[in-house]
Amino acid sequence: MAGIYIHIPFCKKACHYCNFHFSTLDNHDELINTIIQEIEFNQKKFNKKNISTIYFGGGTPSILEDIYLEKIIKKLFLKFKVNKKCEITLEANPDDISTKKLKNWKKIGINRISLGVQSFDDKILKKLNRIHNRKKAMKSIELIKKHFINYSVDLMFGTPNSSTKTVSEDLNTISLFNPPHISIYNMTVERHTVFYNLLKKNILSLPKENIVLKQYDIILKKLRGLGYENYEISNFALKGFHSLHNSNYWANEEYIGFGPSAHTYDKKFRYWNTSKDKEYIDLVGKRKKYFEKERLTIKQKINEYIITRIRTKDGLDNNYLSQKFNINFFEEKNSEITKLLEEKLVKKNNIKLNLTDKGKKLSDFITEKIMY
Ligand SMILES: C[S@@+](CC[C@H](N)C(=O)[O-])C[C@H]1O[C@@H](n2cnc3c(N)ncnc32)[C@H](O)[C@@H]1O
Ligand code: SF4
Repeated sequence: MAGIYIHIPFCKKACHYCNFHFSTLDNHDELINTIIQEIEFNQKKFNKKNISTIYFGGGTPSILEDIYLEKIIKKLFLKFKVNKKCEITLEANPDDISTKKLKNWKKIGINRISLGVQSFDDKILKKLNRIHNRKKAMKSIELIKKHFINYSVDLMFGTPNSSTKTVSEDLNTISLFNPPHISIYNMTVERHTVFYNLLKKNILSLPKENIVLKQYDIILKKLRGLGYENYEISNFALKGFHSLHNSNYWANEEYIGFGPSAHTYDKKFRYWNTSKDKEYIDLVGKRKKYFEKERLTIKQKINEYIITRIRTKDGLDNNYLSQKFNINFFEEKNSEITKLLEEKLVKKNNIKLNLTDKGKKLSDFITEKIMY
């Protein structure tokens, strides 16, 4: 099974926390045609494998004219062996949602929507510099629900102006819709963002760490109570609605990325496309190399497995590590694991090591301890 990721680098407005690759340009034609050329010429010689997931991420894929999305999907179906039941996700922003668009997306093969809401609190949305408000977010979920069985809503906690109260209120609002999938991310302050600069100048006020930890406790309790499985630290699904695309990443499956800044992984090499739009257009157009690549060392492969798997409900599998890399992880990391067990940050049986709920809140610290 392999996945395809298409990066659509356009947004209407820059959110103050986001450092994903995007521009606010209106002219989409040249770049989208270049993505289509990249698929056509397939310079990385990715085999025409069984494609089980396609994911349009961004940026904001929902601002694209439908004809471009259709062209890309048609090209993918022409060049790759796409499974009949392929999950095809489109990341969307609430202000782009309309009945017409939803119907068109369905018609061209999109069968899953991932909606970026972030919060239902107007004060927080404004602070984040989001384009939508609470009313628009609620209306757009209502519409999506009418047309799509499979959809997800993205929220964030740890945001400026947030508290345990605002997080509880967001969860109460989302529970009115009962979406099959919810992602809730702890907002990080990334370099090259407005928030980063404000924080440096000491004029960004964020909730204290103990409040953010309480927010996560509230999220776990509330969503579990509503029947969601917390199958990855930030991801919650009702039965049968796990994101296949992300699960593929976490299961170390191959994926190919198209578009500026997109990454590709074929189990031996990691490739990353240039993130400069002009350079991307120019190099792809001239059939020149538009990506860098590196062969993964055994150590990198082991660490990759540890970093991604520890966050999931499946946890780390000692037998897998031993068969695949000829290491006895439990023995080699015995002293670190013993300490983490004493602090109740992980749980363990003969085969598996998993994070406890307490450990989920300190996942970066734990990962660092057990990496090679
Ligand atoms: C990069 S956005 C693209 C989708 C869409 N444009 C949107 O705004 O929702 C995908 C998701 O990444 C998450 N995200 C972006 N920046 C983040 C940050 N600094 N910390 C945590 N999550 C972030 C948001 O929850 C967002 O929904
Ligand atoms: S969060 Fe989404 S809409 Fe906002 S800048 Fe990032 S990609 Fe664009």
